[in-house]
Amino acid sequence: MVRLYKTFVHGFDEEIEGGIPQGHVVLVAGPPGTMKSSLAYSILYNNALHDGTSGVYVTMEQDRESLEFQITRMGMDPKKVGDKVRIQDISRIRRGVEELRDTSRTGSPVEKPWLDILKGHLEDVKGTGDFALLVLDSLPILEIISGLRERRIGLFHFFGWLKALKVTTFVISEVSPDPNIVRDEDFLADGIFALTMDRVGELDVYRRIRCVKMRGVNHNPGIFTLEVEDGAFRVTRVI
Ligand SMILES: Nc1ncnc2c1ncn2[C@@H]1O[C@H](COP(=O)(O)OP(=O)(O)OP(=O)(O)O)[C@@H](O)[C@H]1O
Ligand SMILES: [Mg+2]
Repeated sequence: MVRLYKTFVHGFDEEIEGGIPQGHVVLVAGPPGTMKSSLAYSILYNNALHDGTSGVYVTMEQDRESLEFQITRMGMDPKKVGDKVRIQDISRIRRGVEELRDTSRTGSPVEKPWLDILKGHLEDVKGTGDFALLVLDSLPILEIISGLRERRIGLFHFFGWLKALKVTTFVISEVSPDPNIVRDEDFLADGIFALTMDRVGELDVYRRIRCVKMRGVNHNPGIFTLEVEDGAFRVTRVI
């Protein structure tokens, strides 16, 4: 039996047969402000709170303080989970890489091996305590800081490496899957949650979530309205 990790989004886990299979790499995709970071954090937070599962949240753009401010305002309390959810702020590493690139400008751009940056970091983190859930926030930023040029090959190796890590990973990406545009990461990921904000009528905008794919799971591919109240996410069916 494969272990399943719940999203703890009320009403949603039953639509994905109980949760995300252990070891999956899941894309959390959506435009700005669709609550990708908050949702990903809340999955780690609730797994820690309810099941004692350890998680690591690697934030590359938004700093740790800003992320903590956001989730606290939403009604979650990072103190309640303590070390069970570790937020790793690698914006400092990122700045270091940029400086390195600036000082080594000798014609062609230097490609910093992007896997090495993250690998080294996560191996350090694993050394100080094992974890089962990982969030990488976000894929576009990781691409920028790594100076990735051969995107298709780079992503292929990166996803392969993530799968070999044997943790369940949420990779935040900024573009929603578009049936007209084929993106490598959509094929490489084991699962995709697509988050959107949809205009309804003249004035209203609703947040939506859809499980586009989840390997090995007979999930509902339908669209749900996503709401958050007192730090808890829940879905309702769009009629
Ligand atoms: N207390 C709250 N309750 C409900 N919604 C909130 C609350 N605080 C902020 N929000 C909403 O959450 C949004 C930000 O969520 P979050 O940072 O998780 O989104 P994101 O998709 O990660 O955004 P980005 O693309 O900028 O990283 C805000 O724009 C706001 O609309
Ligand atoms: Mg975010």
